[in-house]
Amino acid sequence: MDRFVLIYCRLKYVDTMKKIFFVLLFLSMVVSIVAQQYVPSAENLKARKEFSDMKFGIFIHWGIYSMFGQGEWYLHNAKLDPKEYAKAAAGFYPAKFDASEWVAAIKDSGAKYITFTSRHHDGFSMWNTAYSDYNIVDATPYGRDVVAELAAECHKQGIMLNLYYSHIDWTREDYPQGRTARTKYRDPKKNDWASYYNFMNNQLTELLTNYGKIGAIWFDGFWDHDVDTVPFDWQLDYQYELIHRLQPSCLVGNNHHVNVHQGEDIQIFERDVPGENKAGYSGDMDISNLPLETCQTMNGMWGYKVADQNYKSLDALIQLLVKTSGMGANLLLNIGPQPSGELPEAALDRLKGLGEWLRENGEAIYGTVAGDIKPQSWGVTTRKDDVLYVHILNLKEKSLYLPLDFQVKSITTLTDGPKVRYERTKHGVILNFDKIVEGPDYIIKITEKR
Ligand code: GLC
Repeated sequence: MDRFVLIYCRLKYVDTMKKIFFVLLFLSMVVSIVAQQYVPSAENLKARKEFSDMKFGIFIHWGIYSMFGQGEWYLHNAKLDPKEYAKAAAGFYPAKFDASEWVAAIKDSGAKYITFTSRHHDGFSMWNTAYSDYNIVDATPYGRDVVAELAAECHKQGIMLNLYYSHIDWTREDYPQGRTARTKYRDPKKNDWASYYNFMNNQLTELLTNYGKIGAIWFDGFWDHDVDTVPFDWQLDYQYELIHRLQPSCLVGNNHHVNVHQGEDIQIFERDVPGENKAGYSGDMDISNLPLETCQTMNGMWGYKVADQNYKSLDALIQLLVKTSGMGANLLLNIGPQPSGELPEAALDRLKGLGEWLRENGEAIYGTVAGDIKPQSWGVTTRKDDVLYVHILNLKEKSLYLPLDFQVKSITTLTDGPKVRYERTKHGVILNFDKIVEGPDYIIKITEKR
C-alpha cells in the first residue's frame, strides 16, 4: 500500500512540475511577445495626429540623377556601370539652388510638409555623411550640405521636414543585391548584409542627430527582395526602434507595398488613393488604422526627366488632393527639381494654383477625417467635428441624394455663394441645384444639429 502511495506521490510531483514548466514557458513567451510589441510614445501619437491633419505635403526627388534628365532610375534602366555613373558627381554644381525659395514656394502652395530624398537607390547621399565619400559635400564641386540647408530653412519657415531613405543601394558592394540593377558590374560575392545594415543605421543616426527635428523617415526599396527564394530579413524592428530612440516623435513609414509592419507609424500608398489599386502596387495592402499617405507624381516620373512634360492639370491635382482627403489620407505630391537646383516652371505653376485653391477651400481639407459617405462616382466627403463637407467632383445631374444618419442644422456652400436648396427625406437629404455644378470641387457644408 505504502509503495502505491509513494508511486502516486511521485507521479503527482512529476505532473505538478510539468504544469509549472508549461506555465513558465507560456509566461516567458508572453513576456517576449510583449517586449517585442511596439508601443508608440505619447509624442509619437501626437505627431501622428498632427501629420494626418496636415493632409498635403510635397515630395522632392533630387540627386545627381537629375543631371542626366532621365529620372531617378537611370542607373538601373540604362544598365550602367555605377563607377561611370558616379563621375557625374564631379560635375554637380546646382548654382540656382536656394533652400529659402523652395521652402517659400512650397509653403505658399498650402503644403504642410516636405519629404526630401536624402539618398535614393543610386546610393548618392545629399548630406555631409561621414560614412561614405559618395556625398554632395565630398564628391561634388558644390560642396554644400543640401539636407542641412533645407532643414534650417524648414525650421525657420515653420514647415515639417521628412526624409526619404532608400533601403536599396545600386553602388555599394555590400548591399545584398535584389532584383534591380543586376548587371555584370556588381559582384554578388562582395555582398555583406551586416556591413550594409550597420552603414544604414549609422547614416540614419546622423540624419536624426545633426539636422534638428525630422518629422518622418520614409523608407523605400523593400520590394527589391520580394522574389527571393529565401525570404529576406531587412531587420526592420531594430532600425525602427533606433529611429524612435533617437527622435520619439519621428514617424516611420515604408513604401513596401505590403501590409504595415509593426513599428511603423504611417501607411504609404504609392500612386494610389487608399482603396484603389490602379498602379498595381496596392493590391496586397489592407487599409490600416495608421495615418495614411498617398504619394503621386505631378508628371510621370519622380526624378527630373527632360522628356516628361506631361504634367497633370491643376484641376486634376485639386481633385486628387480632395479624393485622398475623402479617404482620410494625405497627399504627398512630387516635384523633380532640375539639375540647376530650380523647381520646374510647370511645377511652380501648379504649386501656386494649389495654394490659391487651398486658401479658399482649405477648411474642408486640413484637419478633416474621411467623411460619413464613402467615395462615390460624383465625389467624396470629409468631416471635421460637427460639419460634413460634401465635395462634388463630377455630378451629371442637377440633384444629389445624400444618405445621412444625423439631424441637419444647416446646409450652405463652403464659400457662402448661392444658397443650397434641399429637401429632407426619411434617411437623408436631396440637394437641388439650378444648373449642373462645376468643378474642380463644388463644396457643400452640412452642419449637424447636436
Ligand atoms: C518607387 C520608385 C522610386 C520612388 C518611389 C516614390 O518606389 O522606386 O524611385 O522614389 O517610388 O514613391
